[in-house]
Amino acid sequence: MGRHAKTVISSDGFDRRRTGYYSTPKPIANYLFENMTSLLPQGKKVLDPCVGKEELIEAFVKKGFDTNSFDIHRYKSEYLSNFREIDFLRFYLDHKTAVEDLNLDYDFYIANPPYNCHEDDYIKSHKLALEKNFQSIGTLNMYSMFLYSILDLAKEGAIIGLITMDSFLTSFYHFRLRKYILENFSIHHLLLCPTDLFADQDADVRTCILILQKGIQYQKKVILNNRDANQKIFFEKIGQNSFKEADVNEIILQDPKDHFEIVVDVPEEIRSLFKYKRLGELFPASQEFPQATILSTYPKIDRKHSTFLSIKIRETENSIRILTVS
Ligand SMILES: C[S@@+](CC[C@H](N)C(=O)[O-])C[C@H]1O[C@@H](n2cnc3c(N)ncnc32)[C@H](O)[C@@H]1O
Repeated sequence: MGRHAKTVISSDGFDRRRTGYYSTPKPIANYLFENMTSLLPQGKKVLDPCVGKEELIEAFVKKGFDTNSFDIHRYKSEYLSNFREIDFLRFYLDHKTAVEDLNLDYDFYIANPPYNCHEDDYIKSHKLALEKNFQSIGTLNMYSMFLYSILDLAKEGAIIGLITMDSFLTSFYHFRLRKYILENFSIHHLLLCPTDLFADQDADVRTCILILQKGIQYQKKVILNNRDANQKIFFEKIGQNSFKEADVNEIILQDPKDHFEIVVDVPEEIRSLFKYKRLGELFPASQEFPQATILSTYPKIDRKHSTFLSIKIRETENSIRILTVS
């Protein structure tokens, strides 16, 4: 989340920084609804565990699904879905200790998890309980704990549709969350969203749309989108449902050194560079090779502008030689 003012009050008087509230634009809610339900046409029961003002669940309500929702705050007096004012992470942890079979019987989970990070009040004030219970993925931010809780509660075959921060795709910290997803879920849609998606709500944030299904046996092609320059282009594509498809192996860096980073729209010529020794291994002493610190992260993806730093290399049988970097 881009840092602006310390307090950002939304029109309903809540401080967005404390609630992590950013309202999902309608085209995204519709995209999730259409694509989630087409993946599981027989599905009936839905949960949004951080429902806000029902932006995401409304489409399910209108089509007569059994709709259920939680939120830590009550934002309106009347809800269309079956609403409970509860803390979802508390619910997850209580449920985990109370029952043997963790899975809930929802067919669909839909969510735009809160955007707070570690310096925020919730994580600070629940530090001990969170650290104890989220050891396997860490407690860096709310969205990753939310994501993991939803995934853990989902039954086999359930569809999970999210719009969420995308740092878990590549950050080293989120390696364990990524591994958990790749080992237990099929990835159906992964669309990187433009950075101006929440600009009208004073947020400069990198998000993605992710549709998963519990169980790796459902994996087909993945529907993908690299980050578009702006919301207008992205919404046009959403309207026409015109996205690329790829094999799931094409979006996962396979070398253990890359910690299963998930990359979108990276050409094979670039991905194949990852089979080589890393520059850090080739040039451990950075004094002898002044650019080594920069180069060792190559190929560095400038995700905001969807471009690559250009690196010219010469390959010989046993070595690669960097010629220029720009
Ligand atoms: C990014 S907003 C999403 C709102 C709405 N669902 C949407 O998509 O537009 C995140 C929501 O999470 C709620 N929230 C924050 N912490 C929560 C918690 N521990 N349990 C349940 N809801 C929480 C906030 O109140 C807020 O409504």
